[in-house]
Amino acid sequence: MCGIMGCVGKTDIRKIILNGLAQQEYRGYDSAGLALRCPDGVRNIKIVGRVCQLAKLVEERASDCEGAVSGIGHTRWATHGGVTVTNAHPHESCDGMVTLVHNGIIENAREIRAELVRNGVTFVTETDTESPCQLLAQIYDGDALTAMSELCGSLTGAFALVIMFRDRPGEIWCARRGSPLVVARADGASYCASDPTALLDYTHDLFFMEEGEMAFLTSDGCKFFGFDGAERAKTSIRLDWDSVMTDKGRYDHFMRKEIEEQPDVLRLTIDAHTVVTSVDMAKSLKISSDVLKKIRRVQFVACGTSHYATLAARDIMESLDCELDIMTEVASEYRYRNIARGGDTLAVFVSQSGETADTLAAMRLASSKGAHCVAITNVRGSTIDREVEHTLLSLAGPEIGVAATKTFTGQVGILALLVLHLLKELGALSTNDEARLIGGLRSLPAKLQSMLEREPEIEALARKYSDSKGFFFIGRRECVPLTMEGALKMKEIAYLPSEAYAAGEMKHGPIAMLDEKLTVVALVPEGDLREKTLSNVEECRARNAPIILIATEGDEDARSYANDVIFVPRTERELFTLIGLIPLQLFAYHTARTLGRDIDMPRNLAKSVTVE
Ligand code: F6R
Repeated sequence: MCGIMGCVGKTDIRKIILNGLAQQEYRGYDSAGLALRCPDGVRNIKIVGRVCQLAKLVEERASDCEGAVSGIGHTRWATHGGVTVTNAHPHESCDGMVTLVHNGIIENAREIRAELVRNGVTFVTETDTESPCQLLAQIYDGDALTAMSELCGSLTGAFALVIMFRDRPGEIWCARRGSPLVVARADGASYCASDPTALLDYTHDLFFMEEGEMAFLTSDGCKFFGFDGAERAKTSIRLDWDSVMTDKGRYDHFMRKEIEEQPDVLRLTIDAHTVVTSVDMAKSLKISSDVLKKIRRVQFVACGTSHYATLAARDIMESLDCELDIMTEVASEYRYRNIARGGDTLAVFVSQSGETADTLAAMRLASSKGAHCVAITNVRGSTIDREVEHTLLSLAGPEIGVAATKTFTGQVGILALLVLHLLKELGALSTNDEARLIGGLRSLPAKLQSMLEREPEIEALARKYSDSKGFFFIGRRECVPLTMEGALKMKEIAYLPSEAYAAGEMKHGPIAMLDEKLTVVALVPEGDLREKTLSNVEECRARNAPIILIATEGDEDARSYANDVIFVPRTERELFTLIGLIPLQLFAYHTARTLGRDIDMPRNLAKSVTVE
């Protein structure tokens, strides 16, 4: 949802801004721009297209950009106003006093615009962002701190704002409410960015701006203030990610690299929270045994792929026959349904980015009701990490591909362990089940690796079926979250219509859609539901749909039900998600590749959804 980069105090600011935008391009990529404060004024260069195109244009105008003392840049995911050069950021006030970039949505932009237009201000864009830009120029009378406070007090909605004033070269002003912004100091320079990964080339010690906070950046340092203008002391948080982790390396796409990293993610997760065959979360999760023993209700809340990870966790809990009241809900619904509860409730919020607006709002709601709240996030220092009562970090490392892959694996791994930890505290986990599932988890990284080695086979299938007009992903119980994730990956990166169905539901309507061009991918691992799922597969086959089965190794009989079969290693039934995922990810990846899609930056999407 838009990436911001700012820098003051370096000689190569132009390159720093462009580099920071390239690293955050997955946040939004329909247009891009940068503004440099040069000795004789501001150079504002914007394009519709990608950061590499912006870089080309900036290099053509390099001689024009010499001597810049500060700069701000932006890569956009359009919300208000079409994808045009005029609507691209940075925006400038009509008097040229203020240059500004913004991530978020200003909800009272129309009212501000109407008022300013009545007072003779000329607007040139269709964006909500132009309103704070023009308003700030009207308020500003030489006192930047007071003007910033007044501006922030007048805005409703979500914003991360980064601003340069014409008469203050060598200064950058920032404000944050609802959208992320991180500040850093290194080697006589100050930086700001939407995403910490953009700052790791300079330092690992980061200042995560809080809600309702402003910052003032110069080459001498950074100062932080509340919206009331009172200065605030702030300590940095160290982020141990390596900048090599954000490099594509030998891979064509980040997504492919991140798929490959999944065995390691799982290994790290298991090592961090287990001892031999026992779960051990006492150090990572600081909820006392006394509290956990009283939990009677568990609510899992998340969006998108993270929501599907919670469905897998629910299945594990149910399979262990605990008597807890379990609920899963997408955050955008949880907020508005009257279902948040306190007291004996453990509310678990899962968010890779830790910045998803709906998940944050849901967490705040549950917290206000008195639930014991835990966030599972991949980003230390993210908003959810800083606000929630308890955090469990998923150990996937930075994920750059817009489609989530390894973070899903990290989430399912840690959720499985959290479930075991909770049930153990409640006395609802037998030693046998604990040892069985932890043993199962420990055996998985090697199985995932062996699955990855079958890539050529899956690639060939992706080519064969890439002219399908769409896909149905079907399965029962533990496979249902996977059907959803498989369909979502296919939609996101291949843009092919894809539906996920509990296999038993097909005949209640969706089967009407089937014909020889609609391919059914059915998950039929061995176990009590294999036969029933295969009956549903037969019903699809009878309607001429091509069938791909994902079945357990050794299940040769599966071949007689399908056009093609992908075999996966045998695993504990509750952990099937973690192995069944790999062929689905690779299948979507290679389908998208065959169709020539932009895999790491699929159209219309952005990695971090910081608006409702
Ligand atoms: C899909 C995907 C999204 C995210 C969703 C939630 O590949 O990445 O569906 O899972 O936007 O994001 P987080 O986990 O950051 O809250």
